[in-house]
Amino acid sequence: MVKSFGAKQQPWKAPELFRGAVLPAGRMLAHQANLPRLPVPALSQTLDKYLRAVRPLLEEDEFQHTTKLVEEFGKPGGLGESLQAKLQMRALERQSWLADWWLHTAYLDFRMPVVMHVSPGIVCPPQEFNGQEAQLKFAAKMVAGLLDYKVQIDNQSVPIDKLGKNFLCMDQYYKLFSACRIPGERRDQVVVYGPGSNIRPRHIVVVHNNKFFALDVYDENWKPLSQDLIHAQLQKVVYYSRYPSEPVGILTTENRNTWGKVYKLLKKDKANKATLDAINKGIFMLCLDQEVSRGEDRKASMAHQLMHGGGSKLNSGNRWFDKTLQFTVGTDGAIGLTYEHSPAEGPPIISLLDHMVDYCSQAPEIKETTVEPKEPERLPFTTNENILEAIDNAKRNLDVQVKDLDMKPVTFFEYGKGFPKSQKMSPDSYIQIALQLAYFKLYKVPCATYESGSTRMFHLGRTDTIRSASVESLEFCKAMEDSRVPPGEKVALLKKAIDGHKKYAQETVSGQGIDRHLLGLKLTAIEAGLNVPDLFMDSAYEQALHFKLSTSQVPSKHDSFLCFGPVVPDGYGFCYNPREDHLNFCISAFYSSPETDANKLADSLHQSLLDMRELLSTQAKL
Ligand code: COA
Repeated sequence: MVKSFGAKQQPWKAPELFRGAVLPAGRMLAHQANLPRLPVPALSQTLDKYLRAVRPLLEEDEFQHTTKLVEEFGKPGGLGESLQAKLQMRALERQSWLADWWLHTAYLDFRMPVVMHVSPGIVCPPQEFNGQEAQLKFAAKMVAGLLDYKVQIDNQSVPIDKLGKNFLCMDQYYKLFSACRIPGERRDQVVVYGPGSNIRPRHIVVVHNNKFFALDVYDENWKPLSQDLIHAQLQKVVYYSRYPSEPVGILTTENRNTWGKVYKLLKKDKANKATLDAINKGIFMLCLDQEVSRGEDRKASMAHQLMHGGGSKLNSGNRWFDKTLQFTVGTDGAIGLTYEHSPAEGPPIISLLDHMVDYCSQAPEIKETTVEPKEPERLPFTTNENILEAIDNAKRNLDVQVKDLDMKPVTFFEYGKGFPKSQKMSPDSYIQIALQLAYFKLYKVPCATYESGSTRMFHLGRTDTIRSASVESLEFCKAMEDSRVPPGEKVALLKKAIDGHKKYAQETVSGQGIDRHLLGLKLTAIEAGLNVPDLFMDSAYEQALHFKLSTSQVPSKHDSFLCFGPVVPDGYGFCYNPREDHLNFCISAFYSSPETDANKLADSLHQSLLDMRELLSTQAKL
């Protein structure tokens, strides 16, 4: 049930459906109450920017039509103004006018499988170990590193994130541990057993050979178990799960309505209910995977392992994709995480992973044998004919999707973000414009492009869209493909495109983006029982939301890289981690689309980055 938050409500409360995620007051959250609320941008500003954003995507006659619709919507005393007034009222009444709408629209009401369509995988730098015993040793260290981070969250000593001089909203950090998405037949929910709930889980959930176990990782005094004790416990888990079970976990890869129905069935059994409860409450999931044969491209193979587990014959049943944090340790040094996206964006999760990687590379192996930990507890599932049939369907459905997903991780070694910096250019804008050029080289037209811009400067802020395809980026791309344009002019157009992108990005992170505002106006109309305004029924709006390039920068201090699937059938997913002297990318596409090819886009991007450096370097010498 959706509750609204009154303007005077204090202290801070988690948005509805995040049951239990109430933050304790303390130093990591000291500034939380002072964070500004997400503003509602001016209507005329959003409409002007919208027309400019769709301009490069439309033919002249389409653009004229859309301009008329925008003028009608925005005219004095028109529908736009009345919706804007209602939206401003909502903003006065709530901590965030957007948070719960966004949670539902982007995640909980979205019925596609979370695997490939929502949940990113993060591949950490591969570690130097091999074989099952080494796998367990490393996994124990990893658990210790993660608990070490959790202690920092619990005692609120994680440094407050900043963007420039501005403190960022830290509430996402409290929605990571002991959190899980729960499927419904029409809508999902998320539960968090965080500091505000009266339940304090002390177990993680370990899965091996498709069998789930609850493993207490704190002793009776809430001291985290030492590495060697965790290691001994993991050895027991592996012994108790020598033989594989039915892959019940693969059900979490299903379409959400389907999974919601099966979940209801599963829950009817008392033992299953207890198992599901233990999984939901577990601090995180640890997947001890079976050996994977890697083929030539090890990075791509790891990306698949982290995105979906490799299919029903590999590790996809050895998962619970609804779990917010799901760590995987392979037998050959492959490690990483799959996260369920509804509670958080990549940056807080990368902080956690960076800490874990640092911890594992430095921490001495502490021996502690004084405590006798509780035996790992098997979390059994009882199945019946209907559930077994659902598992078979899930296997088939997933395998089709797995076969269709092309993942292309690339490291560009020629230069890193140091080069654009040396040119006094924003590296993020530079990479985005390089991607525009790469796409234009292949398709000769631009496409609607989504880049995540963080709005965590605001209370409960998540993201808004940085639209990287612009009038300026198109002019630059056209000039680059035209040998008649002199280099000096190309450089000027490149600078204009980069400056234009940076300005758009800065406006977006300052709460002046257009996408969430337009969504807000549309949902305001729907909630008021009005017809959806013509502006949102226009094919231009549909095109503007058909993001053939869905992109995100997720920087890490290590060479970890995040990967996610395309958001439209004929599109690409593109995530990047720019380092000072090299760039990490991961490009995804669907093989079934005749229009896309991840290899070709990767090659074109490589060439575009070289061309842009060449252009700037040549020009500098003149
Ligand atoms: N000249 C020289 N250096 C410059 C420069 C210029 N004109 N402009 C920027 N730089 C420097 C910055 O100072 C910064 O330096 P650092 O590496 O020492 O920190 C660096 O270049 C990076 O800046 P920039 O490339 O402009 O990007 P950013 O770090 O400001 O990030 C966004 C831009 C949009 C990616 C960021 O604001 C954001 O929103 N990130 C979150 C995205 C997200 O949520 N993703 C996850 C979705 S799951």
